[in-house]
Amino acid sequence: MTKKIIIANWKMNPKKAKEAQALFEAAKEGARGVKNIQIVVCPPFVWLGILKSNVQVKLGVQNCHWENSGAFTGEISAAMAADSGAEYVILGHSERRRYMGETDEIINLKIKSALKAKLKAVLCVGEKFGEEMSIVVESQIIKSLAGLSVNQMKDVILAYEPVWAVGTGHNCSPDNALSAGLFIRKTLTKLYSRFLAEKVPVLYGGSVDDENDNAYIDQSRLDGLLVGGASLDAEEFAGIIKGIGR
Ligand code: PGA
Repeated sequence: MTKKIIIANWKMNPKKAKEAQALFEAAKEGARGVKNIQIVVCPPFVWLGILKSNVQVKLGVQNCHWENSGAFTGEISAAMAADSGAEYVILGHSERRRYMGETDEIINLKIKSALKAKLKAVLCVGEKFGEEMSIVVESQIIKSLAGLSVNQMKDVILAYEPVWAVGTGHNCSPDNALSAGLFIRKTLTKLYSRFLAEKVPVLYGGSVDDENDNAYIDQSRLDGLLVGGASLDAEEFAGIIKGIGR
């Protein structure tokens, strides 16, 4: 049985180092004794050094630059994140596309630099309200993965995150998430092979909580979850871990 993946996206939270430590320790505590599950917590960069990951709860970041180092004021590279303990990076999140103007071309460069730094890249794709899922998701996948070899794809994870469901409390129905997951695998089959498409983990994200979490695994047949708001509540996040890891 392959491990389910639960990724916590803390976004620009919490405000204090002590709170970050407490939240991280609570995730580790929640994961104790839970099998077949990989948890990844993605805090703001500044907390990386003070959080001690273990086998069950690893660290990731929410962004990286596409160059290794250089004159890019305010930026942090994938190599730096890796050196500070990160093993994963979320790329192409809808908030970065929206507020930082990230395009699929930029995301493609970032994925390549993440993989060079030996990080696992979590590519977020999803349509806005009123857009056609298949058109948007296909185009995002083709452009973001352009030039990636079969070998590089071993370290890529896909996350279906419909923009209208992120941070809104309006989660996607498990049926729609099932269709999106199948569509993502169909697109990967066209680009690579059916074999590869079945190996790439596909997650769901967007208003996941302790109540709706299981449906995405059982009904939508996805490989895990990307959790924002609910990952900032220690008890609720532990509930999600226990629910999926049962
Ligand atoms: P949410 O965020 O769970 O708060 O909707 C999900 C995400 O941003 O990945």
